[in-house]
Amino acid sequence: MADTTNVLTVEHPILPQLTQRRSPRAYTSQPVSAEVLQQLFTAAGSAASCFGEQPWRFVVGSQETSPEAYQKILGTLAEFNQAWVKKAPVLALSLAKKTFSHDGNPNAWGRHDVGQAVATLAIQGAELGVQIHQMAGFSPEAARAAFQVPDEYEVVSVFTIGYPGNVEALPEALQQRELAPRTRKPLGEIMFEGGWPRPEGERYDQAPV
Ligand SMILES: Cc1cc2nc3c(=O)[nH]c(=O)nc-3n(C[C@H](O)[C@H](O)[C@H](O)COP(=O)(O)O)c2cc1C
Repeated sequence: MADTTNVLTVEHPILPQLTQRRSPRAYTSQPVSAEVLQQLFTAAGSAASCFGEQPWRFVVGSQETSPEAYQKILGTLAEFNQAWVKKAPVLALSLAKKTFSHDGNPNAWGRHDVGQAVATLAIQGAELGVQIHQMAGFSPEAARAAFQVPDEYEVVSVFTIGYPGNVEALPEALQQRELAPRTRKPLGEIMFEGGWPRPEGERYDQAPV
């Protein structure tokens, strides 16, 4: 069932899955089935990547089926994240292969491509009623040590996977953040058709004639 809490309001019509995708902190205790996990990570793997390298890797820990890995990932998180994350049924660690497999050169787009894969997973999740919450608030060094990640991979992010739960179960401050209106920069601030915008006053198209 689609999550219709705090749907994003946008300037122009887009896919409903994009406006429904959000980063919740409250989750139900409903486990995420192996089948749904397979669908989510298949979606991740469908993303485009530089040279078709597919540099993304994911370590998944499920409270139900792989609790040890779950606890390891949880242990890498900053305290402010651990507080709410521990209710999420699944945690994932994203990693990027640092070099291209065809020539061994550094892949400067690895993290970019991991981001695309996670974004694609999130959209597939929204379609399935599952949400994820990505986090930078964790220790990549602790994650590397916990899973003995080889040097040729870099640790990128951690994210929850679960079914969004009752916001009232969260502490007051987090409830407010969860329900605060979700806003985005106007299109005019992020899309510059024709070239990089000139500072005010330098614009020939607006200069007095
Ligand atoms: C790379 C990345 C790192 C993030 N790190 C954290 C984090 O450590 N803790 C947290 O609560 N949210 C974190 N977020 C969630 C963002 O705050 C959230 O995506 C943003 O406010 C937009 O909200 P929305 O995803 O609901 O649209 C992170 C998101 C991304 C993409």
